[in-house]
Amino acid sequence: TPRVFSGIKPSGGLTLGNYLGAIKRWVDMQSPDMETIYCAVDLHAITVWQDPKGLKGGTREIAAGLLAAGIDPEHSILFNQSQVKEHTELAWIFNCVARVGWMNRMTQFKDKAGKNAEKASLGLYAYPSLMAADILIYHATHVPVGEDQKQHVELTRDIANKFNNDFGVDFFPVTEPVIEGPGTRVMNLRDGTKKMSKSGESDMERINMLDDADTIAKKFKKAKTDPDGIPMDLDGLAGRPEAKNLVDIYSGLSDMTPAEVVAEYAGAGWGTFKPALADLAVAKLAPISDEMKRLMDDPAEIDRKLAQGADKARAIATPILEKTYDIVGLLRG
Ligand code: TYM
Repeated sequence: TPRVFSGIKPSGGLTLGNYLGAIKRWVDMQSPDMETIYCAVDLHAITVWQDPKGLKGGTREIAAGLLAAGIDPEHSILFNQSQVKEHTELAWIFNCVARVGWMNRMTQFKDKAGKNAEKASLGLYAYPSLMAADILIYHATHVPVGEDQKQHVELTRDIANKFNNDFGVDFFPVTEPVIEGPGTRVMNLRDGTKKMSKSGESDMERINMLDDADTIAKKFKKAKTDPDGIPMDLDGLAGRPEAKNLVDIYSGLSDMTPAEVVAEYAGAGWGTFKPALADLAVAKLAPISDEMKRLMDDPAEIDRKLAQGADKARAIATPILEKTYDIVGLLRG
C-alpha cells in the first residue's frame, strides 16, 4: 500500500496556507488503501529560536488543529517528531550521504538565513536532511506538501538515490511530492507575490486558523486587489497575482475549480466577491477553530494521543533504522 508522510512545524499558529496547502489535503488522503502518517515537526521548529515555554503549546496546537480538521487517529498515525528518535538517527546517516553543494542550493535556507547566513544555526542548514529522514524512516512513497516544499522533497529523492547507489541496495523508495489543487501556494493578502506565512511581519497578511469571523471579514476586506474585479474567464487573471490568489482561496475552500469560481462571479466587483469569500472562509474555518479550542482545553488528552501515535510510528521506524545501520556497516551488539 502507498504510504503518505507529511509534517508541519509548530512555530507560530496555523494559517490558511497551512490548511489549504497541507492539512485539508492530508484529511482527504485518509482512505482504506492508503497508510497516512502526520507529524508535528518540533525538531524542525527549533532550527530557529523557539521559546521553550511556547513550544509545547505550539505542538499541542498543531495536534489540535489536525484533529479538529478531521485527521482520525484511528486511521492515521499522528505524533510529534521528537518522540521518535529514529528520525534524528537517520538524519545523521543522511548528513553523511548528502553533499554540501546540495544544501547550498536550497532556496528556503537562503530566504530564512537572509544576508547573514554565517549566523544561522547549523540545524537550519541541515534541515532538509532531517526532512528526508522524516519521510524515508517510514519508506513513505507520497508526500503532500505546498509548493514551497517541492525542492526539499526533490532533495529527499536525491538522498534516497545516492544512498541506494553508494551501498548498492534498493532500500529507500524514491518519493513523490504530491502538490495538487488551487491551495498549494496561498499568497500574502497584502502582496500577491509573497507566500502567506506564519512569520510574516503583519497579521493582516494572513488568515490564522484561530481568527474570529470579524477578523477574517476585515482581513479579506482590506486585502490588496486591483480595480478590475472578477474577470469573465480565467485568462483575465493573468498578471494579477492578488486577484488570482483570492479566486484560488475561494476555490480551495469550496472545492470548485478556479474556472468555476470565475464563471460563478464573472464580472462581479470586489464589493461582492470579498464578502462572499469571507462568509465561505468563516463557514469552513469556524467549526474547525471551535473544535481546536475545545481540544486545547484538555492538553493531557492531546499528549496521550501524541504518545500513542509515537508508539505506532516507532514500530515502523525502528526496523528500518536497524536495517539502515546494517547496510552502512555499523556494528550492533
Ligand atoms: P511548514 O510548517 O512551513 O508548513 C506546513 C505545510 O503547509 C504548507 N504551506 C503552504 N501551502 C500553501 N500556501 C502557503 N502559503 C503555505 N504555507 C505553508 C507547506 O508547504 C507544508 O506542506 N519543512 C516543512 C515541514 C516538514 C515536512 C517534513 C513536510 C518537515 N519534515 C516531511 C513534509 C515531509 C515545513 O517547514 O512546513
